[in-house]
Parts: sequence; structure tokens; C-alpha cells
Amino acid sequence: MKIPIAKPLFDESEEQAILEPLRSGWVMQGPRVQEFENIVSNYTRAKYAKSTSSGTAALHLSLLACGINPGDEVIVSPFTCVATVNPIEYIGAKPVFVDINPETFNIDVSKIEESITENTKAIIPVHMFGLCADMNPILKLAKKYKLRVIEDAVLALGAFYKGRHAGSLGDAGCFSFHPRKMITTGEGGMVITNNEEIAHNIEIMRNYGASISALQRHQRKFYVLPEYNVLGYNYKMTDLQASIGVKQMEKLGFILKKRKQLAKIYDQELKDLEWLTIPKVPKGYAHAYNSYVCLFIPIKLARDRINLDQLQSMHRKRNEFMRKLEEKGIATVPGAQAVHTVGYYKSKYRLRESEFPASLMACKLSITLPLYPQMNHEEQYYVISCIKHFKKM
Ligand SMILES: Cc1ncc(COP(=O)(O)O)c(C=O)c1O
Repeated sequence: MKIPIAKPLFDESEEQAILEPLRSGWVMQGPRVQEFENIVSNYTRAKYAKSTSSGTAALHLSLLACGINPGDEVIVSPFTCVATVNPIEYIGAKPVFVDINPETFNIDVSKIEESITENTKAIIPVHMFGLCADMNPILKLAKKYKLRVIEDAVLALGAFYKGRHAGSLGDAGCFSFHPRKMITTGEGGMVITNNEEIAHNIEIMRNYGASISALQRHQRKFYVLPEYNVLGYNYKMTDLQASIGVKQMEKLGFILKKRKQLAKIYDQELKDLEWLTIPKVPKGYAHAYNSYVCLFIPIKLARDRINLDQLQSMHRKRNEFMRKLEEKGIATVPGAQAVHTVGYYKSKYRLRESEFPASLMACKLSITLPLYPQMNHEEQYYVISCIKHFKKM
């Protein structure tokens, strides 16, 4: 049996939807983008939704629209995709890493305040794997120190924190529509916000800095050229992508339900394996289960902080575990990078691997199990059985 790590959910509805822009000839940002944005803003209950070409672009534009400048410091956890941190660098601002809580993979809120300086201007909480960061203490600190909060909700469309949609709690929230995310448009992203000025700035900056969009120009006075008063980018989503996005949003309820059901089965079947820590969902949170990520270590040991030698030895064993699953046709991947250990950041900021021990441990010992809405009972129980019998493999 071949079990992939993830699989996008497409059917004839996406195939049909993409024909409309193809036939009309309007394939760039236009009416389908507007429709997709309206659907996402209604769904998340955010006043504004502005699409972009990727989650990275959404984060970049959000930082710019929030007024982050060169030299400003932005607090972020290192256990994430490098694409969370890169946009801080694009601006010439400085990422200031704060370690994670290994039980949730999200920023350790008890460590944020000690990292705030007079240069700190923003916090980017990352909702890892679809579980929200503990937003209330973050929002409280942001208020106290006048910081912007930009949620990296790239993995968390459909997740909730205390009754509120992931992405809708801070100044801006960013989503991605890459094929491994909750829904996909191939590539693509979206910023949601309740702040009119942020929304307006994003709209302008994604479109070369033009004061009006191409669609507006065609609908109104096509002979008037736009003004360009700010430096802009080309970070636009196309109508081809958005026509798929509209159909994907119709499936989101089903996708969330299936992911939750599959996660519950993994929980029940794997909870008694003493060498594996399954994902934890604190009270008041709804996990979107973009990924089901375990730690190849008992949680007690993970909390106690093993030393580097122990970590290396466990890391080798985790890799062996992943290799054996691969032999059985089961794809797995590590959860995420520890960004402070990747070449660019390590050398630029002279960071030591051991500086953020929980992130390092999560990087070296995490394992993402296959999970996709189409996964059937037989496939999932095959994965479970191979995991349970791994020691005999
Ligand atoms: C947590 C996180 N943030 C940001 C990104 C960047 O999103 P995109 O690939 O759409 O640029 C990713 C991509 O995987 C991610 O995992």
C-alpha cells in the first residue's frame, strides 16, 4: 500500500469552475478573486480579506501594512517554516526568537515579555499545524507594549481560539493555499483584518503600489492611469486560482470534519504508546489538524529537556522509524524546521542550536503522520498497525 503524507481534495467542481475565467479571458485578479475574498471574510468574520500570491507574500504585506520598518524587532518562534521569518528579513527588520512550548509546538507565552525591547514592534504567533497559539496573553502584552500582532494562520484556516477564528484575533492574519494547507489554489495566500487602513495598504501594495486595481480601471475610467505613491510588489492572486478557491471553500466544512475524525482515531489508537507523544489540544481550542504531528519521545522527557547527546541518539532512532515506515509505503515528514539552525539565520545572527532547546527538540524528534480527507479506514489502520509494530519491523 502507498500512503502519501497529504492529498489535495479536488473533483469536477474545480474543473468546471476554472473554465469560466479561461473562457471569459479574464484570468488575472478580477471578479473571482473578489468572490473568493468575500467568502473568506464571511467565513472568518473578519471585515476584510485580501488575497495574495502566497502565504509568504501575505506575511510580507501584513508586516509592511502594519508599519514595520528596517531595524524594528519582531518576535517569532523558531519552530516554523522558514517562510514565517523570511518576510521580516525582506524588510530589514530583525527576528527575535522565543522558544516554543513542546506540548503545543506554539510560542511559549511565558517567555515573550523578557524578549521585548524598545525596538520591538510586532509579534508573529504561528498557529502550528492548525492549533492556535495562546492568543490572550499575547494580545495583552501587545496592548501593554503597543505591538502589532500578525498571526501566521497559514496552517489554521478553520481553527478556533476560545470561539474566535484563527487569523481574526490580531491586527492581521495570514493564510496560505499551498497544496499542503487546509484548502488549496496551487499557490496563494490571504490576509484577513478588521482594520480598514491595513486592508487598503495591502490592496495597493500587492498591485505594484497602484492606487486602483486593473478591474476597477476597466470598470470605471479606463483612460485614467493609477497613481503610484508607495513602493509596491506584484503579489496578486489570479482569477484562475480564485475560481478553484471558491470551490475549495465549499469543501472546507467537510475537510475539517474528516480531519478531526481521523485525528481522533489516531489519538485513540496511539495514546498508549509510551515512546510517542500525540498532539495535545488544550481546552477552548478547536484544532484544524492541518497536520497530525507527534513527538518521538515521551512527553515527560520532552518537558524535562534531554541533553544534546540524548537528543542526537533519539533523532537517529526517529529517522530509523521514518525509514521503516517509508519501506512499508507510508510517507512521513518532520514537523518543521528549527529556523535558528538553518544556515542563513544561524550565521547572520550567530545563533547556537541549544539556544532554543524545545524548538531544536521538536525539529529533531517530530514526525507528521499521513492525514488527508480522502483517507479511508483501511489506509489509516494500516498506518496505525505499522506504527504499533514498528519495534518488530
Ligand atoms: C507556518 C507557515 N508559514 C508560512 C508559510 C508560507 O506559505 P506559502 O508557502 O504559501 O508562501 C508556510 C508554508 O508552508 C508555513 O508552513
